[in-house]
Amino acid sequence: MSAPRKLVIAIDGPAGSGKSTIAAQLAKRLGYINLESGAMYRAVALKALEQKVPLDDAGALRALADVTVIQLEPHGEGNRVLLDGRDVSQRIRQADVTAAASRISMHPPVRRVLVARQRELGANGGVVMEGRDIGTAVFPNAEVKIFLDANPFVRAERRVLQSGVHSLEETQRILAEVAARDERDRTRSASPLVAASDAAILDTTHKTIAEVVGEIEAIVKKAVRS
Ligand code: DC
Repeated sequence: MSAPRKLVIAIDGPAGSGKSTIAAQLAKRLGYINLESGAMYRAVALKALEQKVPLDDAGALRALADVTVIQLEPHGEGNRVLLDGRDVSQRIRQADVTAAASRISMHPPVRRVLVARQRELGANGGVVMEGRDIGTAVFPNAEVKIFLDANPFVRAERRVLQSGVHSLEETQRILAEVAARDERDRTRSASPLVAASDAAILDTTHKTIAEVVGEIEAIVKKAVRS
């Protein structure tokens, strides 16, 4: 019997939709590589902040991305992220980098550099890649496309729980940050966050991680057979 086909599984959706956790668990169950494309935007954003490259200078940011080595290594529930060989896995999750990543990802020249790298990483299949434009722009021919969504308040609440800080100020700050990021990601002209026309749209608001992973596994099984 031949080995099962190794697919490309694209998982897109807004912040707090459950993408990262679901993609990591799914990849583990399937024996696939899990790649967080957002970590690449975050890594370039961190380098831009460190080198004081203006976040609105698309040309300078593209040049920066061109000479930046980003490695995503499997690690626990996600990826260890190396920026020019330095482990920045924790640093890129901080609020300043999160905001900067959303800004630099608006520029088409920056996206072109990172999309090309993402395509290389997924070229041999056997990957779960999560992001905003994986099913629409990076792998428009992906065999499985999933778009995860959830009620905005629930998404913000998940982020608050992740942050471990439960003050009213912190809750309000995260709510505002998620809303601002949503707005930027959905309304930018270059590869806005939108479900591919052939994506399965799953609302995770009232579902457990295990339920969603199970639903996606069923979709994958069907795709492997077809
Ligand atoms: O998934 P994340 O929160 O780590 O993504 C960080 C930022 O990167 C997010 O604001 C939007 C951007 N991004 C993108 O534009 N395209 C992707 N495929 C992944 C992330």
